[in-house]
Amino acid sequence: MGRGDVDPEEVVRLEGDRVVLLDQRRLPDEVVELVCRSAGEVAEAIRALAIRGAPAIGVAAAMGYALAALRGDDLDEAAATLLASRPTAVNLAWALGEMRAAGSDPDRLVERARGLHADEVARCVAMSDHAVPLFRPGGARVLTHCNTGALATAGHGSALGAVKAAFARGLVERVWVDETRPLLQGSRLTAWELERAGVPFAVVVDGAAGSLMARGEVSHVVVGADRIAANGDVANKIGTYGLAVLAAHHRIPFVVVAPTSTIDLAIVTGAEIPLERRPAAEVTARFRAENPAFDVTPAALVTAIVTEAGAHLAPYAETLPR
Ligand code: MRU
Repeated sequence: MGRGDVDPEEVVRLEGDRVVLLDQRRLPDEVVELVCRSAGEVAEAIRALAIRGAPAIGVAAAMGYALAALRGDDLDEAAATLLASRPTAVNLAWALGEMRAAGSDPDRLVERARGLHADEVARCVAMSDHAVPLFRPGGARVLTHCNTGALATAGHGSALGAVKAAFARGLVERVWVDETRPLLQGSRLTAWELERAGVPFAVVVDGAAGSLMARGEVSHVVVGADRIAANGDVANKIGTYGLAVLAAHHRIPFVVVAPTSTIDLAIVTGAEIPLERRPAAEVTARFRAENPAFDVTPAALVTAIVTEAGAHLAPYAETLPR
């Protein structure tokens, strides 16, 4: 981790009877905290993307559930409200399942939520270690999409964590940061994190990827995931699938880095993953628009899936940890 890395506690923490999170809607211009005092307020923060990224919303939901217990609120209702906040990242359901299994004692639930956070932090470190050997000496030029760093994981990052770790070992020359329309998780959040971490990068518009690859300017595409099906199909931010097709055409490794809390073995293929559609106004305020927020990349286009358990290669139905 570089000195300027974002602290996990900065991203989200349970502080007494409040969940305090860094409001990601305001970055990079303002570093402002948002205080949530109920599970409903945490759910709204997740829905509105004040906190986003699959592992981070799992951690926030767990803390929101603990908050409900501290307040003596109905826990079934709290779980349902939190679960309904966003549909695609399975980390939300996974984290709430872990919380429900921990019973109803408030102190125990606070401890469990903090434990889930600590687990995600540890997973990030392990994922990075497993991903580093995928970058060979020679100065990788990595293209990444959306934000998969500290802000998205509440640890030091999945895909971006791996890139930062590889950079620290002298294996990365520069990062191409996809702008990531329409909400600019790349040009606002990934750029902010890479600047803090001292990693050389340039923001590019989403449409630039093909041309960069054709010019030999991309050696690896490294992305995160919101949900991975048992066969290795990967749901991630809209535009990921297009990058995978381009990477295959240009024979560039397409690597997914995600914790096991993102794997949904109950889902056989990506066709079963619910893909969020967000308000049209996020795309354009003036004209009719559609705003699909995620897409599915078929496993056949994925070179490797790296989790905290190791680097897994196809056939993913056999190699993904279970
Ligand atoms: O809509 P977002 O910003 O929550 O989408 C996030 C992504 O698509 C990330 O790539 C994914 O959650 C992995 S984060 C480690």
